[in-house]
Order: sequence, then structure tokens, then C-alpha cells
Amino acid sequence: MTTSPATSIQTQHREDGNEMDYSTAFWDRNAEKYSKRPIKNMPAYEHTMERVRSYLKPTDRVLEVGCGTASTALLLSPRVKHITASDFSSTMIEIGRAKAKKSGTGNIDFVVGTPFSEAFEPGTYDAVMGFSFLHLVEDLPGTLKRIRDLLKPDGLLISKTVCIADQTRLWGIPIAVMRFFGYAPYVSLLTADELESAVANAGFEILEAENHSVSPPSRFIVAKKV
Ligand SMILES: C[S@@+](CC[C@H](N)C(=O)[O-])C[C@H]1O[C@@H](n2cnc3c(N)ncnc32)[C@H](O)[C@@H]1O
Repeated sequence: MTTSPATSIQTQHREDGNEMDYSTAFWDRNAEKYSKRPIKNMPAYEHTMERVRSYLKPTDRVLEVGCGTASTALLLSPRVKHITASDFSSTMIEIGRAKAKKSGTGNIDFVVGTPFSEAFEPGTYDAVMGFSFLHLVEDLPGTLKRIRDLLKPDGLLISKTVCIADQTRLWGIPIAVMRFFGYAPYVSLLTADELESAVANAGFEILEAENHSVSPPSRFIVAKKV
């Protein structure tokens, strides 16, 4: 993938600092507000959930990466055997744990960590899900390879993520300004084509790919480990 000028502005901003710490602190700070924010496009979300459910089985052990406050994990948990809901923001996880306890959900456990956390055992998950997640990781190829390693043979990657560069790469400019003032996390400027190539290059066969919202373009992808 070539690096656009806008992308360079973004990555250079935190070159001397620790990108991961910056983003973790951003999400910790915003977790409470995020948990209260209503879903912007409910029909699109419901459509995504319907497509996700169609792939899940009652015997499945599922890992969700970047689960936020676990709203989606809670919604999908009746469909599967077990969900490990993970996020590198401990505040997001704290809120998610409290929600699971309040709802009496017994088949979700929580992990504070990235997909690279040692808490996850390679080859043990039927599906790894990430919603509004892949555009936030710095090392997309490495993250996709790690997700592939965590899956059982034929396991599924289920993702929906913003492909903002399908609108314009100029988004990199306001994002860089916002990041400078601490109002945005790390964001990767992806097109749907770039995302799908990265998924295929990591060793997946794409089974389904569709935009579930137009603005911002939110790409839903289901891909099988090959
Ligand atoms: C936009 S929120 C989405 C939350 C949830 N999946 C949803 O759809 O509501 C992104 C989440 O990913 C988490 N996150 C971002 N980068 C991460 C990383 N590298 N490892 C783990 N979690 C990460 C953030 O803390 C945040 O909770």
C-alpha cells in the first residue's frame, strides 16, 4: 500500500511518542461517553447483526477484539457457546463487565489487551470479530495474521470497519489536527479495496463483502481462514 501525504501527516505526529499508549489513553478517556452514545445508524447495525448471526453456531467459541463496552458481545452471546470480549482500554472493559453482570450473562469473559495478548491461544477460536476496529490498528497486516493464527482451521474473521479513504484521503488532514489536540485516536485511511487485499494477503478467503453504511463507508467482511 502506498502512503499518501495525509497518512504521513498522521503517523509522523506521534513518531517520537508511544502510539499505543496515546490511543489507549484516548479510548479510556472517552469510554464513559462512548457507552452512552446511541447507535447512529440502527438499520445498518441491525443488518450487520443479522448477517453476523447467520454465520454463528451454538457450539462456537468467539473472540471479539476492540469490543468497547461489549454491547455487541452481549447481543450475540445467546447465539454462541462462549465469547471472549477484549479491548485495550481497561475503562471500556470495566463498563462491559458491569453490563454483563447486570444482565446476568454467563458466557462472556473479558480481557484487557490487543489481539496480540498472550491470553489468547492460537488455533482455538471458531470466529474472531472486530466491529469499528481494523481501521484503528497501526499494523493491519500483522493484526490480520495474528487473527488468522488465533482461528481454528476454517475459522471466520467477521469485521465491519470504516473505509474513510473511499470518500477522500483528505480526511487525513482534519484527523491529524484532531489528534494533535487529543480529540482523535490513531485512524488508518483505508479504502475497501485496500482492506480486502490486506485480508486476502493475510491468508483468508473472502466470503462476503458489502458496505453496510454509505457515509462513512463501513465495509462488512466475512472471511474464512485458508
Ligand atoms: C470505535 S470503538 C468500537 C467499539 C465496539 N466494537 C463497537 O462497535 O461499539 C473501537 C474500540 O477498539 C479499541 N481498540 C482500538 N485499537 C485497539 C487495539 N489495537 N487493541 C485493542 N483494542 C483496540 C478501543 O479501545 C475501542 O474500545
